[in-house]
Amino acid sequence: PPSATKKEDMIREELGSLHGIPLYKCFVEGWPQVEAFQARPDDLLIATYPKSGTTWLSEILDMIYHDGDVEKCRRDAIFNRVPFLEMKAPEMPSGVEQLEKTSSPRLVKTHLPVQLLPTSFQDKDCKVIYMARNPKDVVISYYYFYQMAKIHPDPGTLDEFLESFMAGKVAYGSWYEHVQGWWEKKQEKRLLYLFYEDMKKDPRQEVQKILQFLGKEATEETVARILYHTSFQQMRKNPAANYETMPSSLMDHSLSPFLRKGISGDWKNHFTVAQNERFDKHYQQHMVVSDLSFQMEA
Ligand code: PPS
Repeated sequence: PPSATKKEDMIREELGSLHGIPLYKCFVEGWPQVEAFQARPDDLLIATYPKSGTTWLSEILDMIYHDGDVEKCRRDAIFNRVPFLEMKAPEMPSGVEQLEKTSSPRLVKTHLPVQLLPTSFQDKDCKVIYMARNPKDVVISYYYFYQMAKIHPDPGTLDEFLESFMAGKVAYGSWYEHVQGWWEKKQEKRLLYLFYEDMKKDPRQEVQKILQFLGKEATEETVARILYHTSFQQMRKNPAANYETMPSSLMDHSLSPFLRKGISGDWKNHFTVAQNERFDKHYQQHMVVSDLSFQMEA
């Protein structure tokens, strides 16, 4: 079939496949440029499975990079300040094109599973911050995101979507493989592995961890400003952080806002007892890395 040339062609299109990982067809088409991407030694990679706190972590890092200057962090939308490496869509500059025009030091967003990361990041020994979130909240957040972001196929009922998620038949594939694959990478890489639930519970402590990992210092006052500006309530009303400047043909915030609830444990408002039992059983079978565990609520 001919490739998508207009934004409209992406709407509710079935997923393609990238080395066995389900992914938007337009991203698959752009893969050769991503694979050949030239990282720079001072790039910082923000890696996540979708809906795990990417935008939150991105805003925190942009604030750290600008020494807590709120106005500088309003200079552009978050998806331009922190380009999305593998993003490719008709009528828009690709993630790689955006990154090539970005001056160093760059912040780079990716949802790629570790085995698909372009080799240049390894060659240049780039630092990575990975953020993981418990799968029950991820699947609920993803379900709403599938509805509002029309690059996704129709998610069906929640019950159907839960099955797709457990089977790894959603964009970016298996959550279980993603979080465990990146966890194992901690041995060899300069990688800080964070959890959304920890960030909810004690954001100050997590920001301090990030500062330490980056070898940066910030005054108490700067940290306080970073925490205030990156709170859910502030980000939700910030057009540079809440995705409201995305073309409405691609994201319909009236169906569900991008910054939807921002809590841990919202799955309890959605899962039935039976769904929860089934999910727990599947989780036990698929989480094989022994020293990685998740808090299902904060
Ligand atoms: S994406 O599309 O994969 O990049 O989405 P991502 O940013 O990873 O995840 C979106 C969810 O993160 C929540 N979020 C926040 N939670 C708490 N505090 C802050 N500041 C914050 N910013 C974003 C956002 O609300 C989505 O989660 P849900 O559960 O749907 O609300």
